[in-house]
Amino acid sequence: MSLPSKVVRGLEIWTEYLEDNEQKRMVDDLRIVVASAPLFSPDTPYGKPMSVKMTSAGRFGWYSDRSGYRYIAEHPSGCAWPPIPRSVMRVWNSVAECERQPDCCLVNYYMQGSKMGMHRDSDEANFEFPVVSISLGDSALFRIGNLNRGGKTESLWLRSGDVVVMGGEGRLVYHGVDRIEFGSSSLLRNGGRVNLTLRVVD
Ligand code: SIN
Ligand code: MN
Repeated sequence: MSLPSKVVRGLEIWTEYLEDNEQKRMVDDLRIVVASAPLFSPDTPYGKPMSVKMTSAGRFGWYSDRSGYRYIAEHPSGCAWPPIPRSVMRVWNSVAECERQPDCCLVNYYMQGSKMGMHRDSDEANFEFPVVSISLGDSALFRIGNLNRGGKTESLWLRSGDVVVMGGEGRLVYHGVDRIEFGSSSLLRNGGRVNLTLRVVD
């Protein structure tokens, strides 16, 4: 049984969890996901489009518009979300320590200049299940805060192949991405970063 490289404010950081060939395989699997469920730019409830593009795989997809954040059972086009690739499920089954399988794999694509404001993942029904995050492509400056908004934060770089488990006392910790280092990885043909988050929804 391996252990995370470090634990920061309850978040398990597994650095270099995926080898290069596993990352490439996962990107190939994600190209199939994106072909049937194309990336889109959701609006925030405040009316501004998010700077990341996103799509999902699984029973549910995460969605945002003027009415708020929620999970929806179909892609905005009306098509079903594609299944979560086996290469991605394998990571959950290795690090989540949880019998239930994830219902949603949110796929976030960060382009040059994309970022993600501080938030916590709280649209799920049961916070006893962890959220597992997989980073692919360019490095990201990941900021970790507290259980309430505000206060001192600490930052670390997430690199391609790193995995973060947000569970237990870290499940509802605020977090965000300040910026990516565009071009720092050659994994993705056009650069940028993909972050996958696996969630149990209902
Ligand atoms: C998220 O919290 O939704 C994304 C985290 C990340 O991109 O590393
Ligand atoms: Mn999050």
